[in-house]
Amino acid sequence: MTQTILIIGGAGYIGSHVQKQFLAEGYHVIVYDNLSSGHKCNLLPGAQFIHGDILNKEQLNHAMALNIDGVVHLAAKKAVGESMSQPELYAENNITGSVNILNAMVKNEIRSIVFSSSAAVYGMPKYVPVDEMHPINPINYYGYTKCAIEQNMEWFSKLGKLNFASLRYFNAVGYAADKSIIGKEENPQNLMPIVMEAATGKRNKICVFGQDYDTPDGTCIRDYIHVSDLATAHTLAMRYLFDHHKSLTINLGTGKGVSVTELLHATERVIGKPLNYEYTQRRPGDPAVLMANAQKAHDLLGWSPQYTEIEDIIQTVWNLEI
Ligand code: WQD
Repeated sequence: MTQTILIIGGAGYIGSHVQKQFLAEGYHVIVYDNLSSGHKCNLLPGAQFIHGDILNKEQLNHAMALNIDGVVHLAAKKAVGESMSQPELYAENNITGSVNILNAMVKNEIRSIVFSSSAAVYGMPKYVPVDEMHPINPINYYGYTKCAIEQNMEWFSKLGKLNFASLRYFNAVGYAADKSIIGKEENPQNLMPIVMEAATGKRNKICVFGQDYDTPDGTCIRDYIHVSDLATAHTLAMRYLFDHHKSLTINLGTGKGVSVTELLHATERVIGKPLNYEYTQRRPGDPAVLMANAQKAHDLLGWSPQYTEIEDIIQTVWNLEI
């Protein structure tokens, strides 16, 4: 029988790619989204849509009552800077909203949740690549909210209420190669969409935050993972929960580091023209190097990223512009 997946935050950037993957694998998909940052144009043919908010318990309960087999939860605020200046927004949306989801699941006896966590739970890495045994020590409130939800899920799991798969994303980039997802984030804070805005003339320059890090070219190194590879991990994780009835926490990254300067040069090669950028001061809270050890995802889920070259990843973003 076709299984039904409720994808909360399924109209957003990562959520829409997750929606695409579940549909491709033959699941019945219901997207639940308040469209605060998601887009209606990201809803794909075949997906059912509920315009709902995770802070509205009644709406949430109503959606959970629709014979749901598994929940994917990606509905969160994710601007690190904003989480430090307005923690109350993050406490409510990310923490209260997630507790509402867990409670609604328990009420409706839904036992499987795949949760969108973040490398931000680790804080400043003590070693790289970072594995899942690395100490949890978030250095911003956004990272703390992810950690708080992971702890809640641990308790619910320990108390026999549900099983969870917590997926700790590193730097998500790229778009579906077939251009089926076109909704872009507004006022992006992350490097890749900022670089694309410069590539298309929407902004006139890129500020590179710091050139004096202890890395080969002095700029920060990150692990950029293609969003379609992230999406595949969600269906694998859901299948794992259905088959094994056991919780898991895994990193999702490529294990490969790319510096900011390397990313800019790779983009210039893809778009065939120079970008306008300048080196400015460091951004507070940026680790010099952040890379994932994603061996556990490989061992437990059989997952490995298909996109390993940064140019190929950037090409999928540029394809939307040409
Ligand atoms: C990447 C690199 C910047 C903008 C964040 C969250 C993390 C995770 C993913 C989220 C850094 C540099 C950036 C710019 C720059 N989770 N940069 N100029 O900070 O690695 O990770 O997103 O949901 O929790 O912290 O990503 O894209 O902001 O930055 O030089 O205008 O690009 O300093 O080295 P980050 P990012």
